[in-house]
Amino acid sequence: MTLKVGVIGVGSMGRNHARVISELPGVSFVGAADLDFHAAEMITNRFGGHPYVDYLQFLEAEQPDAVTVAVPTISHLEVASNVIQRKIHLLIEKPIAFSMDDGQRLIATAERAGVKLMIGHIERFNPAVIALKQHLLAGELGSVFQVDFHRQGPFPERVVDVGVVIDLAVHDLDVMRYLIGSDVRRVYAETDRRIHSSREDMLTGLVRLANGVVGTLAINWLTPTKIRELFVTGQKGMFRVDYLTQDLYFYENASNGGGNWETIRVLRGVSEGCMIRHVVKKKEPLRAEIEAFLAAVQDDSSVPVSGSDGLWALKIAQALVKSGVENRAIQFDLVEKN
Ligand SMILES: NC(=O)c1ccc[n+]([C@@H]2O[C@H](COP(=O)([O-])OP(=O)(O)OC[C@H]3O[C@@H](n4cnc5c(N)ncnc54)[C@H](O)[C@@H]3O)[C@@H](O)[C@H]2O)c1
Repeated sequence: MTLKVGVIGVGSMGRNHARVISELPGVSFVGAADLDFHAAEMITNRFGGHPYVDYLQFLEAEQPDAVTVAVPTISHLEVASNVIQRKIHLLIEKPIAFSMDDGQRLIATAERAGVKLMIGHIERFNPAVIALKQHLLAGELGSVFQVDFHRQGPFPERVVDVGVVIDLAVHDLDVMRYLIGSDVRRVYAETDRRIHSSREDMLTGLVRLANGVVGTLAINWLTPTKIRELFVTGQKGMFRVDYLTQDLYFYENASNGGGNWETIRVLRGVSEGCMIRHVVKKKEPLRAEIEAFLAAVQDDSSVPVSGSDGLWALKIAQALVKSGVENRAIQFDLVEKN
């Protein structure tokens, strides 16, 4: 059966959804709705389907089986609720919603309507992250000590509704849970606002997991070049992922106390083992994400990134924001009672 799929909100992210959907076999791209009609028209001129300014009209006229919701985060609840009401399956861009309440309402209404709700935590579909998970499962690192995330870059002026923690840290929090899979015990954050008109644009965050692993987050909209990296340090060495190039490296701990060559030892300061660059078959994460969503719709199976996964990432992100504002660590059992 050919699936009829469309996109609501074709700004900087939604237009990529439209492109990918239009390229998928067995899928008909039925159109796009955007408050900016010219944006919708530009997309449909390029990828087919019909343009709409009113997403309700779009849903009524095209009767899609599934849509992507890529409107600004603050509008996720309103738009997604209307999609769910019409029993249309939906992939909502991350973060799930503007608030925990909004997210909980979306999950509950989707469940009641029997609609598939997936959240666009795109790094789950990054081949280097998936490969890293396999290496960790194979025990190649031994026990994990620490996970460090660097997600930094210039300020995207269009983002006005949320700060950098809710907008970007949710990516890495979701990856942390996917890789390490442990509950959070407490978080502490230093946040600051340097460019954004109203929200934080800088985060230095600490996350202590229940299994003892420590996560660090260096995330901002201030760095003049785009950095997207992840390091996992453990008993046997360290993995490094470059999210952007989808490269995965392993730095092995030295198996002995260092070579006898005094000059090298002095230069490096410490002894080092081998470095391996693992071969990772590259794929556009967005394509993998949308394929996985539509496969779940086709097969009536569960989506790989659920509403509650999205809610979890939002919960920890909000705790980091709160920690930054209140200048104190947030104990997670206390946050959960709030
Ligand atoms: N997964 C990722 O890596 C990633 C990257 C960027 C953005 N996002 C997410 O995607 C969402 C959109 O972000 P963006 O950067 O594309 O924003 P954007 O401002 O570039 O685009 C949003 C579009 O939605 C339209 N819009 C707003 N309200 C609407 C409504 N009620 N009906 C129809 N159209 C409406 C706007 O006109 C605009 O064209 C956000 O939730 C953001 O967090 C995810």
